[in-house]
Amino acid sequence: MTSLDKTPSAGTSSTPLLEVEDLVVNYGRIEALHGISLSVAEGELVTLLGANGAGKTTTMRALSGLLPLTRGRILFEGNDITRMKAHERVGLGLIQTPEGRGVFPGMTVQENLDMGCYSRTFKDKAAYNSTLEWVFGLFPRVQERRTQVGGTLSGGEQQMVAIARSLMARPKLLLLDEPSMGLAPMVIQQIFRIIADINAQGTTVLLVEQNAQQALTRSDRAYILETGEVTKTGPGRELLHDPAVKSAYLGVG
Ligand SMILES: Nc1ncnc2c1ncn2[C@@H]1O[C@H](COP(=O)(O)OP(=O)(O)OP(=O)(O)O)[C@@H](O)[C@H]1O
Ligand SMILES: [Mg+2]
Repeated sequence: MTSLDKTPSAGTSSTPLLEVEDLVVNYGRIEALHGISLSVAEGELVTLLGANGAGKTTTMRALSGLLPLTRGRILFEGNDITRMKAHERVGLGLIQTPEGRGVFPGMTVQENLDMGCYSRTFKDKAAYNSTLEWVFGLFPRVQERRTQVGGTLSGGEQQMVAIARSLMARPKLLLLDEPSMGLAPMVIQQIFRIIADINAQGTTVLLVEQNAQQALTRSDRAYILETGEVTKTGPGRELLHDPAVKSAYLGVG
């Protein structure tokens, strides 16, 4: 185990930060999620691991309020937010970094970051500055590129900007939708290291991924999602050594 590996969180809080019960989501008549239940405690890094089409993005969008539920309940800090609108959830600190990053290509990096603040009225300039300083500390590359337009950044830099923009809203729960998508192995490692740092500094993270090695190594717990159903759950490092997980997600055995 290296210093970068995740040791399980103490799990001190009795009420989970996020609790999802029996989530069903349809696209028309097609049921994409068949009754997913999961929870995330304050301080945890939890991964939802699944292959293409398993329903990862659907889950994230349902949690953010971008997709209506057919059935189920979402509790945040113990409060039922199932019927709450997306922007109200953002106001509570439920912040999503979308699949594909969604960096505004014609805006500079700094302007992209400032878009992350629209949901939050900083008390004063000092609060804004300290948030920016925290974000630049995590992402020095983003600071270096602050005047460059988003569309000219590399894929890895765009992913960094997308996460940095989410952090500008000071999330209580950061929802990350496949941050490793389309990136080179070295960049993936770098992004995962930063995600682990963000979590270690106190932000709770729910990550959806296909990169089992990186995600499970760094997670307190994980859920395996297969065709819209949770089929297995456990500590990240335990699942990393599970023969079925190794065979399906790590190409071993
Ligand atoms: N707008 C839509 N209309 C109809 N079906 C959809 C729509 N969006 C997603 N689906 C279907 O729902 C299922 C889950 O899709 P989803 O995008 O959640 O998967 P995913 O796990 O995020 O996959 P990936 O790893 O490729 O991003 C898939 O079968 C997909 O075809
Ligand atoms: Mg997806």
